[in-house]
Amino acid sequence: MDQLRHEERIQRAHEEIRRTRASVAKAPSRQRYHFMAPQGWLSDPNGLIHFRGRYHYFYQYNPFDAFWGAMHWGHAVSDDLLHWEHLPVALAPSESYDDHSLGGCFSGTAIEHEGKLYLFYTGTANNGNGLEQTQCVAFSGDGVKFEKYAGNPIITAPEGYDPANFRDPKVWKHGDTFYMLVGAKKGDFAQALLFASANLLNWEFVNVLAESRGELGYMWECPDFFPLGDKYVLMFSPMGLGERKTLYLVGEMEYRTGKFNYTTVGEVDWGHHYYAPQSFLDPKGRRIVVAWANGWQWMPWWQDWGPTYQEKWCGWFALPREVKLSDDGTLQFLPIEELNSLRFGEQSLENVQVGTEGLEIQVADPVAYELYLECDLSKSETSGFALHLKADTEHETIIYFDLLKGELCFDRNRSDGWTKGVSRSPLFLKDVDKLDIRVFADTSSLELFVNGGRICHSHNVYAGPWQTKNSITAIDGNLVVRRLVTYGLSRTTD
Ligand code: FRU
Repeated sequence: MDQLRHEERIQRAHEEIRRTRASVAKAPSRQRYHFMAPQGWLSDPNGLIHFRGRYHYFYQYNPFDAFWGAMHWGHAVSDDLLHWEHLPVALAPSESYDDHSLGGCFSGTAIEHEGKLYLFYTGTANNGNGLEQTQCVAFSGDGVKFEKYAGNPIITAPEGYDPANFRDPKVWKHGDTFYMLVGAKKGDFAQALLFASANLLNWEFVNVLAESRGELGYMWECPDFFPLGDKYVLMFSPMGLGERKTLYLVGEMEYRTGKFNYTTVGEVDWGHHYYAPQSFLDPKGRRIVVAWANGWQWMPWWQDWGPTYQEKWCGWFALPREVKLSDDGTLQFLPIEELNSLRFGEQSLENVQVGTEGLEIQVADPVAYELYLECDLSKSETSGFALHLKADTEHETIIYFDLLKGELCFDRNRSDGWTKGVSRSPLFLKDVDKLDIRVFADTSSLELFVNGGRICHSHNVYAGPWQTKNSITAIDGNLVVRRLVTYGLSRTTD
């Protein structure tokens, strides 16, 4: 471990950040209230934690380009998960075990122990045999400057496992023992491997916590594991599973054997731009989930990362969501209540009938807004309805609710000049009389939460500020809208 080299690599990153951050800050596609890096490329959330009274976000970061490259860990702090202060880069590739030029310091977690902040990450090395991945640790007394452990790497891929697919450690404490979950590949199938430690430095393999027999993909990226109510949840981003790319499993954890027995499988988000979610527990007792709002070339719909590379940056986090366990064992994802503090210019309607001619939706700010809609399905007589968002004469995003098929389609074919496609999901209408819909719009994104957050679709929509029209139409007959409320959303400082 060469602390000087690490510091020098961090300094180089800072010089590049200083050079470009002011012009990037003024770029027209920048989000208004989503978390972004100051410039460069951002992808997975890493090391989410509440430490010494503040929220910390770390993230996969390439400050030298608007595309993925050798990964650093960016770092920012906040009091409310909305307003962020950027801190020095926490990790930079500097050692033979983490400086693969197309790798660097991959994703991982943070944990507090004896007053120190520990970061667990995947080091990527080029030992002449591809991208060799091992688990590494760095620590800090002040939560700002991190020192890599001299004994790194602390875990290498067990015999029989692919060293190029052994990554993204999630660490937590249960009783007196620390546990680590690592995404792995054995043969053609994904596994989540469980390790245990008493001191965070010496680790032993415990068991295969859960695995795919082919039905859940060949590799699980960013596995995350947490208790919720009287259950446990395993959340991961599977590779090789077509359009399904963020899943959750709900079940029981047996610490005696290290086995997770799940009974429920669900989708964290069906949209095209929601990947690598990570969770953490906050001091209010909430389990909060944050994800990267984009995707990889291997996803079936992938065409590009959007236009922002032209402005020398790319990537933001989807809105933080609180996870709840519902009575039927599925999960609900609710945008955190802090977002209510951004609202202004409320406009509302109650008990209106919407026909095929449609109803224009008024918003206080057409770029950044929130829309809440509550439909009375018992009184409506229509086979479906559609929201038309951020429209002008040539563009619109259509969110179509098919009440006959019980299906939702988020159609971004005409949203902007970028990635085209439709994300589709069930609507789960059994016993639902009241259908609630929430949309969060920002400069370059639309996030949709339906039916108490049971169905989520996140998409990036690079709408110009001239795309100002929003409306709702019934496909035939009439839709009864109990309540329609909109707010402009504004974050004053950052
Ligand atoms: C997920 C991922 C992780 C990896 C990181 C590299 O998006 O592929 O598995 O650690 O990105 O940036």
